[in-house]
Amino acid sequence: MHTKPMRLSVNVDHVATLRNARGGSFPCPIEAARICMAAGADGITIHLREDRRHIRDHDVERMATEVTTRLNLEMAATEEMVAICTRLAPPACCIVPEKRAELTTEGGLNVATPDPFLRGAIARIAARGTEVSLFIEPDPAAVEAARALGAQAVELHTGTYAEGPVAERAAQLARIAAAARAAHALGLACHAGHGLSYETVGPVAARPEIEEVSIGHFLISSAVFEGLEGAVRRMIGAIRAAR
Ligand code: PXP
Repeated sequence: MHTKPMRLSVNVDHVATLRNARGGSFPCPIEAARICMAAGADGITIHLREDRRHIRDHDVERMATEVTTRLNLEMAATEEMVAICTRLAPPACCIVPEKRAELTTEGGLNVATPDPFLRGAIARIAARGTEVSLFIEPDPAAVEAARALGAQAVELHTGTYAEGPVAERAAQLARIAAAARAAHALGLACHAGHGLSYETVGPVAARPEIEEVSIGHFLISSAVFEGLEGAVRRMIGAIRAAR
């Protein structure tokens, strides 16, 4: 298959986490998004959580007008979030499961026995011209279920691969590869994300079916030591070297 360049979407949620730690306006996630775009990021991801622990509503409003690359709104499938997403109509929306007490998204969506609200939510968001992806476990059956629900894309959960024991990485990569092939065969756009770093992004970037990676915590943390622009550039270099 023809290998397209891979897009890097930088998740800037944790710039908002730092800002909210002191209740002020610094550091500003919009400014972070600008730096990421100037460094070559192809997209910006923000997760508006029900509890607003990092990204807040006013951030979403500003991102919708100020992100000039591909804005990806990550959110749970709830009426409140669907209303925001359909009003702002960002280029992309990634639907994730959300548990109130979790530190971060813990696993893929249950697409085998989906919440009855999900199918209609996907249709409403897609009707506004937004590409809808479902965050799922890297499993061909989940990919098929996502397609049956009407999604145009899937984001494969790479957390078990990237954060699990090194000895299990090959097996986890094989799962990711099988799911990516299934997505390609079904005509779905294939994205991947969670827990990726300079060290673990390569084998994911080497999969020709995967066209976007979404990376947040590692990049924002690396920015503390090497600056955000440098961290984004270095990640783009790691992706290109593996592609
Ligand atoms: N993709 C999804 C669906 C996520 O929920 C997250 C975490 O917010 C990411 C990607 C990025 O993960 P990380 O912050 O570990 O890079």
